[in-house]
Amino acid sequence: MKIRICDLGKHVGETVTLKGWLFNKRKSGKVQFLMFRDGSGLLQCIVFKGNVSEEVFEEAKALTQESSFEVTGLVKEEPRAFGGFELDVTNVKTISKAEEFPITPKEHGVEFLIDQRHLWLRSKKQWALMRVRHRIVKAVRDFFDERDFTLMDSPIITPNACEGTSTLFETPYFDLGSAYLTQSGQLYAEASAMAHGKVYTFGPTFRAEKSKTRRHLTEFWMVEPEMAFYDLNDDMDLAEEFLEYIVQSVLKDKKQELEILERDISKLEKVKRPFPRISYDQAVEILKENGVDFKWGDDFGAEDETIISSRYDAPVLVHRYPSEIKAFYMKRDPENPKVALAVDVLAPEGYGEIIGGSQREDDLELLLGRIKEHDLPQEFFEWYLDLRRYGSVPHSGFGLGIERTVAWISGIKHIRETIPFPRMIYRNTP
Ligand code: 4AD
Ligand code: MG
Repeated sequence: MKIRICDLGKHVGETVTLKGWLFNKRKSGKVQFLMFRDGSGLLQCIVFKGNVSEEVFEEAKALTQESSFEVTGLVKEEPRAFGGFELDVTNVKTISKAEEFPITPKEHGVEFLIDQRHLWLRSKKQWALMRVRHRIVKAVRDFFDERDFTLMDSPIITPNACEGTSTLFETPYFDLGSAYLTQSGQLYAEASAMAHGKVYTFGPTFRAEKSKTRRHLTEFWMVEPEMAFYDLNDDMDLAEEFLEYIVQSVLKDKKQELEILERDISKLEKVKRPFPRISYDQAVEILKENGVDFKWGDDFGAEDETIISSRYDAPVLVHRYPSEIKAFYMKRDPENPKVALAVDVLAPEGYGEIIGGSQREDDLELLLGRIKEHDLPQEFFEWYLDLRRYGSVPHSGFGLGIERTVAWISGIKHIRETIPFPRMIYRNTP
């Protein structure tokens, strides 16, 4: 069996062979300290002149940063070492000697690093971030699977817009004219929910965002649950439970990674239900109290969201937005038709909106009216209208952006580091 650094706890006192890369090294007289990485962790390997042959000592000496090699040695427990173990090396075999690695331990500018993204992924912080991302994705799947949701993937190539026509990526589509990359799997999730009751769709989504902010990607991952017989309150309850579950899962299993990221864990520990819930109207009051000149009916900007959320330790749910600024499919509040039964969840510490959701319009005539008001091509929405023709029920759902969630939980300012290969307005490489 191949042993990796993450398995070393089971091999203390044994001689093992590991394969990986040289992260960096130090030398002091008769000892070389090789910092070795294999993707599962980091391990300090000690090459002591007295323990190895002259050739092996020279072989270790010739290893350059990011050279791949095989190392054999005795596993020792070492509480002071990163990861808790050390290797007393008895043999080193080079697999491939690396050319001069462009990313050195010195500081590099972020533009340079993003150009080197394919190599940057090997650095410690980026490694930790991707491991947190992976744990978040696993928590997402576990959460819905444990609650009897069915995964129903929505298509990526679609004939129409879901979230407004201004951010659509268009692509030629054979004899059918144009198709668009999906902005959200929601409309299909609604059809799926009528077949399975509780579903989720989880995949890449696309927005031709012209804004160059730290919160926007043109390609990002979104998970969207959709539930039949859920109203807005049920929807908000689920969003709360979901977020608490994700944060607590990462806290439990990714301590080492959060430490590498220098995340203030005490902030995450406070993410416990119940979360605060305020209406859009109350949020507007908060802005006014803070001296913001805000007009009822406008959407919140990034700074507004920061002001609102900085009142709270946990994410805050803001509900009942003016329907004018929300999507066509959202149901209006029967008690006040000026507002939609919508909810946005704003993450603490200035990370802004991570979830957008709503109760859906389930009345055929009202929905038809909305499609016309929004100037949407009715013929493409006939199938969607069918859901209101054949056994329409109250239903709700929401979408969580994975990258914004990773940024928040990891404490990373810019969203570009939270996905393996970011796509933004000015970047589609590497
Ligand atoms: O609020 P949005 O646009 O909601 C929807 O798409 C609904 N159809 C979801 C639903 O009800 N099923 O997007 C949902 C989330 C946002 O809260 C944000 O986290 C993320 O998707 N998001 C982005 N993340 C990165 N870059 C972008 N350009 C994003 N746009 C939205
Ligand atoms: Mg939104």
